[in-house]
Amino acid sequence: MKGSNASCIDSCGELKAKAGDEMERKLEIDKSADVIRLEGVSFSYNGTPVLRNINLLVEKGEFLAILGPNGSAKSTLLKIMLGLLVPKAGEAKIFGRKIKNFKEWNKIGYISQHASNTNISFPATVMEIVSSGYYPGFGKIFNKSKIKEAAEDALKEVGISHLATKLLGHLSGGQRQKVFLARALVKKPEALFLDEPTTGIDAASQREFYELLDKFHKEGGTVVMVTHEVDAALRIADKVGYMEDGEISVYENNDSLSKILAYRLLGKSARRGI
Ligand SMILES: Nc1ncnc2c1ncn2[C@@H]1O[C@H](COP(=O)(O)OP(=O)(O)OP(=O)(O)O)[C@@H](O)[C@H]1O
Ligand SMILES: [Mg+2]
Repeated sequence: MKGSNASCIDSCGELKAKAGDEMERKLEIDKSADVIRLEGVSFSYNGTPVLRNINLLVEKGEFLAILGPNGSAKSTLLKIMLGLLVPKAGEAKIFGRKIKNFKEWNKIGYISQHASNTNISFPATVMEIVSSGYYPGFGKIFNKSKIKEAAEDALKEVGISHLATKLLGHLSGGQRQKVFLARALVKKPEALFLDEPTTGIDAASQREFYELLDKFHKEGGTVVMVTHEVDAALRIADKVGYMEDGEISVYENNDSLSKILAYRLLGKSARRGI
């Protein structure tokens, strides 16, 4: 009897420990529904504050467009989300983890502002540029044929397989944007972070680009896109964030949003005159 009691106590303890582990794992899974969580984030460049106490949640499968005037720190905010800049205060989490503990960078695709206009004289082919986006994971071996296969898939998905052997500098602006989208997609990411991805490209190329993004989103992908294209944001995003004076206001994309944005986009000085 004593023995069985003892074993009951042991096994009950074990069961409790198991339940605790289970709970922790569950919490970890629940937390992973958040792709981005910013809590009280502030940031300054050389002592000049540009972000003040930002709280922001981007959930899995959501499409958030970020609008705001030049210099309102949209690119800075995107870089904070990706750990390229470190907040001066507050905390940034990605897929439920503090950025410094996050390792699964293959889940993320990023197109930086002006990506397609930099290094255009660099003698690299489209295939090489797209392949360079493939990172097998820390400590893992680069498998050439796997990378080639992934790059070919990404080129096909974006509809530019025919450009594979062309030099980047020999392409049009719209074609270059698609190359960078293919580069961002090559790892089959779960979330895309795009900083003004369609600036300077014609209406038809913009439409094609947004169709690809829409497809990615409809298949469950998460998108955070900085843009100045209000119409596109209203058409494609689930939520729209408007940045001004170091702060962000996030709105659901519903019938009244276009009125709110029209008012905010007028600019402060124009609003004073209303
Ligand atoms: N590396 C830097 N050093 C110092 N100040 C910077 C730096 N990068 C940006 N800034 C300043 O921080 C502010 C926010 O810049 P940011 O590039 O994030 O704005 P943005 O909203 O992306 O603008 P845009 O619409 O023009 O791309 C601006 O006032 C800018 O001058
Ligand atoms: Mg910017």
